[in-house]
Amino acid sequence: MTSTHGSDIRMGSEATYVRRFSRTERALHWVHASAFFVLLGSGLVLYVPRLSELVGRRPLVKDVHFDTGLAWLVALALVVVLGDRRGLRRTLRELDAFDQDDRLWLRRIPRPQGRFNAGQKLNAALTAAFGLLFFVSGLLLWYGERDNRFRFASTILLHDGLMYVSLVLLLGHLYLALIYPSTRHALRGMTRGTVRRDWALQHHRKWVEEQAPPGA
Ligand code: HEM
Ligand code: HEM
Repeated sequence: MTSTHGSDIRMGSEATYVRRFSRTERALHWVHASAFFVLLGSGLVLYVPRLSELVGRRPLVKDVHFDTGLAWLVALALVVVLGDRRGLRRTLRELDAFDQDDRLWLRRIPRPQGRFNAGQKLNAALTAAFGLLFFVSGLLLWYGERDNRFRFASTILLHDGLMYVSLVLLLGHLYLALIYPSTRHALRGMTRGTVRRDWALQHHRKWVEEQAPPGA
């Protein structure tokens, strides 16, 4: 699969584009997002009484919810195993590095950002942590129905709490990706893989300059 980085700069008819996300990264994002939406939808049907009554067939919805949770894990693992693992490791390092510019950016002091800004780094960390917590609490809910020793009141509280916080994060994420004029160009990076160089310079200057230093 294609690499994310390097000086892969493409000339469009009017603008210059830089490669932002590899095929592996895009596959990982959309597999994660699709499973999340099915889990959110089926979870809400289980949670909201009016929706439960409307849909009925609770055992089927429960099965869809649980099986999607398992399929989610398997699909993510497959993308990682079959995809560009070296590229993913590099992306992980970029998401993990938190420097002084990130700290200042979080305090709303504008600073040039790397490939991901500090908000995106936090979003990625929370998404990964929540994925794990959803999975563990979901497994416990499922197993607790089969063995009382594993039935804890706090499990459902955790699972529901994660859903509320995820919803808030998701709404913010969708607003930035689809509506907010200054950031919505990012969607091109997550669909076609490339973004306009001038846009990338405005939002991720350090990243663009690392690939092609000024004057190079
Ligand atoms: C990652 C894998 C997941 C697994 C294995 C899992 C598993 C489960 C199980 C076994 C239940 C109990 C069903 C019942 O007895 O009624 C449940 C309920 C629920 N799940 Fe998940 N789940 C997962 C992810 C998610 C995600 C990502 C969301 C939402 C974003 C979600 C939202 C809910 C909700 C709202 C309920 C209903 C809880 C209630 O009745 O209070 N789940 N889940
Ligand atoms: C229709 C739904 C979605 C759209 C349109 C969308 C769009 C995007 C875009 C455009 C980016 C790249 C931003 C950049 O250039 O750096 C991105 C990154 C990301 N997305 Fe999504 N996304 C969606 C759903 C989701 C869901 C459901 C999750 C997790 C539950 C998620 C988690 C992430 C994470 C962790 C990143 C990397 C960090 C960040 O940019 O915040 N996305 N998404």
